[in-house]
Amino acid sequence: MAQERLDKILASQGLGSRKEVGQWIRRGLVQVNGEIVRRPEQKADPETDAVYLEGKPVTVQKYLYLMMNKPAGVLSAARDPRTPTVVDLLPEPLRRRGLFPAGRLDKDTTGLLLLTDDGDWVHRVISPKSHVYKLYEAVLDAPVEETDVEAFARGIPLKGFTCLPARLHLPQEGNTARVEVCEGKFHQVKRMFAARGKTVLQLRRLRVGGLWLDPSLKPGEIRELTEKERELIFL
Ligand code: URA
Repeated sequence: MAQERLDKILASQGLGSRKEVGQWIRRGLVQVNGEIVRRPEQKADPETDAVYLEGKPVTVQKYLYLMMNKPAGVLSAARDPRTPTVVDLLPEPLRRRGLFPAGRLDKDTTGLLLLTDDGDWVHRVISPKSHVYKLYEAVLDAPVEETDVEAFARGIPLKGFTCLPARLHLPQEGNTARVEVCEGKFHQVKRMFAARGKTVLQLRRLRVGGLWLDPSLKPGEIRELTEKERELIFL
């Protein structure tokens, strides 16, 4: 990591706003390599310099990776002037970190949503070329049939394009079916079922690649991904 302004380093870790951390620095609460530093614009390299805030070491993470159990009624976007977004649900310091969702879920879709500030990683998660299948559970207005499974496997033609082959699993019970897709076009799963004459009444994402939604997360809750979980996505 290159040298950065101290106030920028501390604010990037969600510890406080640029203004707040600037005040802490001027008040002498921040030390670099054992020396009190009082200028917010002073530069440091978080990889090689020991940065302390109020006597506690500041561990600098370049990127953050979170999973959220997305509730219905919020937008998968960073900001919106009218509707609450998934970023609005984050605890205060994290809201300022510039996190964004890795792929979008519709406002009424629930379940596994990944959030990060690592744009390259988002690209890898959502690009069909990565073959990261996303597993959804759909409650439909009619049962899935064997002919639907075959049509999904061939690729459902939608307006202007044909979907990549998708894995539709026959339901265990009633009108609930699971489907795996590796691309994320607008309303894709709903449109694929609509093309087969079925309406999606509820949609929940359960898994991205090999990573399942943590069942202990209540709607709206988040937790950080472990390194192993980040790898699981691409297995
Ligand atoms: N497909 C949809 O139709 N909606 C989603 O939210 C995700 C996939």
